[in-house]
Amino acid sequence: MNKKNSVFIATSLDGFIADKNGGIDWLHTIPNPNMDDMGYVEFNNDIDALVMGRTTFETVCGFDVDWPYDKPVFVLSNKLSEIPESHKGKAFLVKGTLIEILEHIHEKGFNRLYIDGGTTIRNFLKEDLIDEMVLTTIPVLLGGGSSLFSELPNQLNFELVETRTYLNQVTQSHYKRNK
Ligand SMILES: NC(=O)c1ccc[n+]([C@@H]2O[C@H](COP(=O)([O-])OP(=O)(O)OC[C@H]3O[C@@H](n4cnc5c(N)ncnc54)[C@H](OP(=O)(O)O)[C@@H]3O)[C@@H](O)[C@H]2O)c1
Repeated sequence: MNKKNSVFIATSLDGFIADKNGGIDWLHTIPNPNMDDMGYVEFNNDIDALVMGRTTFETVCGFDVDWPYDKPVFVLSNKLSEIPESHKGKAFLVKGTLIEILEHIHEKGFNRLYIDGGTTIRNFLKEDLIDEMVLTTIPVLLGGGSSLFSELPNQLNFELVETRTYLNQVTQSHYKRNK
């Protein structure tokens, strides 16, 4: 099966994925009374596993909800020595270079990967390891916070696959890396 690394993430109009305090409450700025999943279920059906930075992992662990993933989650961290007992069997610690980490995950049979977390996505982009991005833009200016993108060693061209609008307010653009 073809390998691919995909991003599915929401940003503010000014390109932040977390506010100045690291918060993500602004993701719910637009009322969503019918709990529209905004393409998440369709995206999730098309992936085998997640690769997530330690900060995002800990953020999700802190949510007052059941574990939201039905696929294995590979957590990148140099600081953690092991996954907390509560999440063993669902999340797996990985270390090394991104190429080594990807090889390890592919060997386990997981090829279509959801890459999540700001630093993690930026590191993957620096090595040109992202094949597609689904970017959901929430119409709010945060004025600061954690940027999705950072400097890159080279220009990376993407091709727009489609743009959708949700809740009459939120745009979602799907881009594929154009190599
Ligand atoms: N808007 C959204 O849809 C959305 C989605 C996801 C996350 N978020 C938010 O964005 C923020 C993300 O935080 P973040 O920028 O710190 O990013 P992150 O990617 O979640 O976590 C960064 C951490 O991952 C580990 N890491 C990254 N690359 C590694 C590598 N190659 N090898 C080993 N470890 C590696 C490091 O952990 P160690 O320090 O342990 O070594 C690093 O400190 C959070 O506030 C989260 O809530 C928002």
